[in-house]
Amino acid sequence: MTGLFITFEGGDGSGKTTQSRLLTEWLTQAGHTVVHSREPGGTDLGVELREIILHRRGYIAPCAEALLYAADRAHNIATRVRPALERGDIVIQDRYLDSSVAYQGAGRVLDSAEVRELSLWAAEGLMPDLTVLLDLSAEDGRERLESSRDTYDRLEAEKSDFHERVRDSFLGLAEAEPRRFLVLAATEPIDALATAIQTRVAELLNR
Ligand code: TYD
Repeated sequence: MTGLFITFEGGDGSGKTTQSRLLTEWLTQAGHTVVHSREPGGTDLGVELREIILHRRGYIAPCAEALLYAADRAHNIATRVRPALERGDIVIQDRYLDSSVAYQGAGRVLDSAEVRELSLWAAEGLMPDLTVLLDLSAEDGRERLESSRDTYDRLEAEKSDFHERVRDSFLGLAEAEPRRFLVLAATEPIDALATAIQTRVAELLNR
């Protein structure tokens, strides 16, 4: 495959969406063809799954939740991401398999290695070329969410120890794969973050 697959990860309220959009604009202006995607919900099927995963009332068993995210991922990768990468496009995606390891593994306390294997099976082994982790404490994440909305989805509504486990898991993943990850403090100004991300992406493009 000739394209480039860049993912954004981080806790709720870390500003992934803002930064992935800014990077998409920057690359598009430089003449690249960019596909912006997200999980859950990057496809028509994914939009339906997203509604169930995030907004269904009542309990969803942790393994069922992991499988729903994996189903969304399998369809998104097969129908949108792989075809784009095969065309040579750049795919920028909000969240990918590291989110499953952090949220379903560390958050819901499933076996992280099994969750990762499930995602890799679903995505036929596709790994990102670069993963930008916007690191934020659970407390700061909560404050940001509170200032921007009144209702929370099923994951956002989890308590702060859940979100601290998620954060620690992301940091552990980044430590284990330092070449794939760019870790930035989400509390830095938006422009400074965007510049740091552009610098790293430019390096990748010049490889
Ligand atoms: P997202 O749309 O990124 O929400 P936000 O923009 O508010 O961060 O993701 C929705 C939620 O789904 C988010 O709380 C993280 C969670 N999630 C998982 O638990 N596992 C996964 O594999 C993915 C992709 C997301």
